[in-house]
Amino acid sequence: MAMEISRRTFIKGTAAAGVVLMSGAYLGCGNKNIPAQVRHGDVTYDVLIIGSGGAGMRAALAATKDKDIKVAVMSKLMPTRSASTMAQGGMNGVTGVTDDKDTVESHTFDTIKGGDYLCDQDAVEYFAENAGKTIYEMDYMGYPYNRQKDGHFHQRKMGGSSHARASYFEDRAGHAMVHALFEQCLAHDVDFISECQMLEITMTDAGKLAGVVAMDMRTGDLIGIPAKTVLIATGGYGRAYWVRTSNPYSSTGDGIVAGMNAGIPFKDPEMVQFHPTGLSVNGVLLSESSRSEGALLINKNGERFMSRYAPEKMELATRDIVARAIATEIEEGHGIGEGLTAGVYLDFTKIPAERIRERLGQVADLSLRFAGVDITKAPVLISPTCHYSMGGLEMADFHTGATRVPGIYTAGEASCVSVHGANRLGANSLSEVLVFGKTAGEGAAAYAKEHAYEGSQDALTAGCTKWKDRFDKVTARPHMNNRTVPEIRDAMVDTMWFKAGVFRNGPQLEEAAKELHALEEDYKNCFVGDTSHVYNTAFAQYVELGNMLQISHAIVQGAIARKESRGGHSRRDFPKRDDANFLKHTLIFKKSDGSYAAEYQDVVITKYPPQERKY
Ligand code: FUM
Repeated sequence: MAMEISRRTFIKGTAAAGVVLMSGAYLGCGNKNIPAQVRHGDVTYDVLIIGSGGAGMRAALAATKDKDIKVAVMSKLMPTRSASTMAQGGMNGVTGVTDDKDTVESHTFDTIKGGDYLCDQDAVEYFAENAGKTIYEMDYMGYPYNRQKDGHFHQRKMGGSSHARASYFEDRAGHAMVHALFEQCLAHDVDFISECQMLEITMTDAGKLAGVVAMDMRTGDLIGIPAKTVLIATGGYGRAYWVRTSNPYSSTGDGIVAGMNAGIPFKDPEMVQFHPTGLSVNGVLLSESSRSEGALLINKNGERFMSRYAPEKMELATRDIVARAIATEIEEGHGIGEGLTAGVYLDFTKIPAERIRERLGQVADLSLRFAGVDITKAPVLISPTCHYSMGGLEMADFHTGATRVPGIYTAGEASCVSVHGANRLGANSLSEVLVFGKTAGEGAAAYAKEHAYEGSQDALTAGCTKWKDRFDKVTARPHMNNRTVPEIRDAMVDTMWFKAGVFRNGPQLEEAAKELHALEEDYKNCFVGDTSHVYNTAFAQYVELGNMLQISHAIVQGAIARKESRGGHSRRDFPKRDDANFLKHTLIFKKSDGSYAAEYQDVVITKYPPQERKY
């Protein structure tokens, strides 16, 4: 293993100083979360990006390459609080600096095999070809990679990869990425519209894109923002599993639902990734890089049980396989504890404490804070946690990020390209947001350049009025015997975790569908109970719950219909992959009456014929 030095002390200090200065300039514009021109209705954006994670900010930066293009990033959070910030392990891309045997071909094949052959292979080829370049682009932007003595980045091997190809900054890869991108966006005059919750993508009666309607969470004001293109980069939908997820509270699938309402299909919704190592106590992620650095999985008998499930790759088999192994150990009585918090041990005690400090500082910190365990001295209890949404809005053209609805683009976890198929490899997510965030930003900017604004202010005004009426009606509703938002949410997680989780079967999925239907009925009359306009988080959570219920409905509908096991979708009643019938993508469309219709789309195969996966 190459000796490594971290430039972090130097670069981190410089980067931090830059952020403070630039944030000062940003906040100094009157300390407003919304630019005045938006508030006054004086701007039509060429590219309006929803979501301030890696995909959204990379797209914004790409769009600003043309100085005439007016770009904004809108978020219901502050720009640096997105889910991308929580990504830990690294970003895959072949550079050959740590492992000169690695090739683009190998990255392509690992990704396709890891995805259990549900990936569109042309998209994966494009992705792997460009992923290495993004590693260098981030370097030029000031990303503080952990480095080797010779100055090259250090790369680690993540699950399912046959080479060390994940570049990283400690175990805070996403945090460093988001901050580097934010600095660049500020330097390139991207407008930020913060703490605004998107409520809908607004279309005219003639079916043309008008823009979006959003609520300014600080004031409760409803704002219609005209835009020639809208780029959905709102992240995934892990919160459908509410307390058993590594995702932040914001990952509620808002953009996917807005996109479906605008006519874009939700592709492969049933493909949900359960990461093997969430803290048992609360689902918070302990990075796969822990196992990459040498942490072992041990059951209650002291056995390193992965030898029975993946004798070659052991702890570094793909996530679907490791998660099922852990769930099986727990089910068969080899775990520790009971119910939602049962788990097995992740044991770091063979890793030198200095290496833990250097590369796994956050993992050590999270274990101590939430589980009270000093991982240099004792193993910590972990179990699978919902981590990633392979499904998302169908990206119709991966060279531009375009969806099938003119003017609407998508990138990142909110989208389905599809490069991850039925199971994403560790560290392919950050590079995916960079590769396809960039192409989507360029694609949207090119569209805006060629097209006049075809929307109408009337449509946006009507959208604002509709949402104002809904706000007034919903928040004023008396309690009576109506269920509350938290009550419905708690019921939703029980349904989703126990009936549409790591293992699934037909009868349980059918029960899940019935239970979700009942919850959707309860939701129509649920009690919100806060009429205030300033930071009305009760209303915000009401909107998010409505989105999560629709997402859950699509997950379960897709899972019922997919009568096979593939990647993260594991059915006990159909334990084998069935390429004859299911080598295809699920597309869920929302009909005007709110019900869903399913269609199927062939997987694109180029030169990697499906074969059995062995690790
Ligand atoms: O385990 C992790 O560090 C997660 C990385 C990823 O999801 O790519």
